[in-house]
Amino acid sequence: MTQKVALITGSSRGIGKATALRLAQEGYDIVINYARSKSSALKVAEEIEALGRKVLVVKANVGDVSKIKAMFQQIEEEFGRLDIFVNNAASGVQRPIMELEENHWDWTLNINSKALLFCAQEAAKLMEKNGGGKIVSISSLGSIRYLENYTVVGVSKAALEALTRYLAVELAPKNIVVNAVSGGAVDTEALTHFPNREELLQEAKEKTPAGRMVEIEDMVNCVMFLLSENSSMIRGQTIIVDGGISLLV
Ligand SMILES: NC(=O)c1ccc[n+]([C@@H]2O[C@H](COP(=O)([O-])OP(=O)(O)OC[C@H]3O[C@@H](n4cnc5c(N)ncnc54)[C@H](OP(=O)(O)O)[C@@H]3O)[C@@H](O)[C@H]2O)c1
Repeated sequence: MTQKVALITGSSRGIGKATALRLAQEGYDIVINYARSKSSALKVAEEIEALGRKVLVVKANVGDVSKIKAMFQQIEEEFGRLDIFVNNAASGVQRPIMELEENHWDWTLNINSKALLFCAQEAAKLMEKNGGGKIVSISSLGSIRYLENYTVVGVSKAALEALTRYLAVELAPKNIVVNAVSGGAVDTEALTHFPNREELLQEAKEKTPAGRMVEIEDMVNCVMFLLSENSSMIRGQTIIVDGGISLLV
């Protein structure tokens, strides 16, 4: 059992899919997780198998702690270990503050914040069996600045970043490194849920100091750096990958 294993939540498409494929290329066996899009998840699994790696596909809504526990049970039965956990799955209700309801808050915070805590607990139990591991979460600029209609998602990502700091301290004795990557707008399917998608894309294209929008691979490159040995003294940080757009007023 020396073959290393990586779990990427929400890896049926977008940034999660690209991260899963990159980790497979780097030689990891992969756990693909999704909530609804089974056929996309199975296609990603086929791509990973074509790279010669083993893959486990788990349907689990990470907003539900019992589903999280069942997913880790499956991982333990299939692989008996876990080395990397990328907390990527996200969802959320995009509404102005006066239109937000209690279930919008619960749905968003459960998937985007609570899932990190309870996945990290289960991941840590598996990781410590083999001497440690690495956890990276994906956040967004709405955690630190105002974005239209983004209140609950922004708050959920702020909680995720705070939790990243707490996990980094308490999991360090288990030799588990915990960090996050926060991105500017990336043109994935997620943006189709933004009422102001066109405006957001236009702004990112025109105003990003680096001269172009952030692409999926920019996010994956930073995730891979935080999963590498080169970054082992970076703990509890959220690294912003936005081409400099958050530096503007
Ligand atoms: N796109 C951006 O502009 C941007 C910018 C900064 C940060 N981010 C962050 O990057 C991450 C990935 O975003 P993306 O743009 O790649 O999103 P995406 O294309 O919408 O993909 C989201 C993934 O998460 C899964 N998912 C959603 N709810 C889930 C749940 N409850 N349980 C398990 N899986 C679930 C989806 O699978 P199903 O379809 O099966 O539900 C899908 O695989 C997110 O954390 C997002 O906040 C995105």
